[in-house]
Amino acid sequence: MTAGPSVAQIERDAAAAIAAATSTAALAAVQAEVLGRRSALARAHRALADLDPEARRAAGKALHEARERLDALAERRRSELAARERAAALERDRLDLTEVTEDEVRSVVRRGRLHLVDQTRRELEDVFVAMGFVVAEGPEAETDWYNFEALNIPPAHPARSMWDTFYLDLGQPETVVLRTHTSPVQVHLLEEQRPPVHAVIPGRCYRRETADARHLPVFHQMEGLVVDRGISFADLAGTIETFTTAFFGPDIHSRLRPGYFPFTEPSAEVEVTCTICRGSGCRTCSGTGWVELAGCGMVDPAVFDAVGVDPQEWTGFAFGFGIDRCAQMRHEIADMRVLAGNDVRFLRQF
Ligand code: DAH
Repeated sequence: MTAGPSVAQIERDAAAAIAAATSTAALAAVQAEVLGRRSALARAHRALADLDPEARRAAGKALHEARERLDALAERRRSELAARERAAALERDRLDLTEVTEDEVRSVVRRGRLHLVDQTRRELEDVFVAMGFVVAEGPEAETDWYNFEALNIPPAHPARSMWDTFYLDLGQPETVVLRTHTSPVQVHLLEEQRPPVHAVIPGRCYRRETADARHLPVFHQMEGLVVDRGISFADLAGTIETFTTAFFGPDIHSRLRPGYFPFTEPSAEVEVTCTICRGSGCRTCSGTGWVELAGCGMVDPAVFDAVGVDPQEWTGFAFGFGIDRCAQMRHEIADMRVLAGNDVRFLRQF
């Protein structure tokens, strides 16, 4: 061992190199250099062969201990550097949201919104809830009895042609339908609870017709039903007018014209001031200044009969209008088909 550096010197140099490594990659290279086959340590080990047995044992022990200390040192350094590198990577990947303002978030994230028809339904509900109505719902698949018969429209009655009906392939032919209007929920409500009833019923309806600028085969209605003691036609007219000005604004008014529905007597058509021309007459309202919005009337005693409500004690009015039509008029939408189109460029405007 006279030629090479002493074991202590080798260990000092190796320890210094290990401590100086500043990354796990650099440390791996240092380890190969100071502990590997071509290291001074390995060379010293090979030189043991030239020593006599006694000196070899002592030098071998010293070398072995030095290697063990260096191994332990390298392992400590490695885990230290690995921890430091992990922390640095986490720091690099961190999203610091505190530095982003609300406005910046809004410019990056495009928030979703309710469909215009849902927004309209909610606003309509709010108007009626403010007048003391509750909001109710009913099924979209109905039996013929709820959709027609209980509403005083017996089988083969000519009034059935007012509704082009989708029949479901369930039970006897033509006994289960997709509801053509929300009026059958009047029947459900009166079956479930005794009067007084003050309810609005929004919901989806279905008719077998081709979509055009003013009609959709799947559309939405809002039904109204008030049954109480001493309810008169004046209550109906007042409710419709209050609703019209609350929803469309103070310069839009309502008027009632005689109409026909089997489940009301008398029946009326509700017309409101045309929202496009504000009443002066335009193409949309065919020059009349008025647009048809709803049907309404006093609940026919035959409907009360069907559900066992005494028409001597109770009277009521009902109405039904198109929610999509309300959205169309309020926002001056020329073609209603955009409401079913899911084109976000249209929907995003509302
Ligand atoms: N259900 C009718 C339709 O869809 C609208 C309607 C008219 C509802 C008169 C009513 C009513 O409640 O009284 O054509």
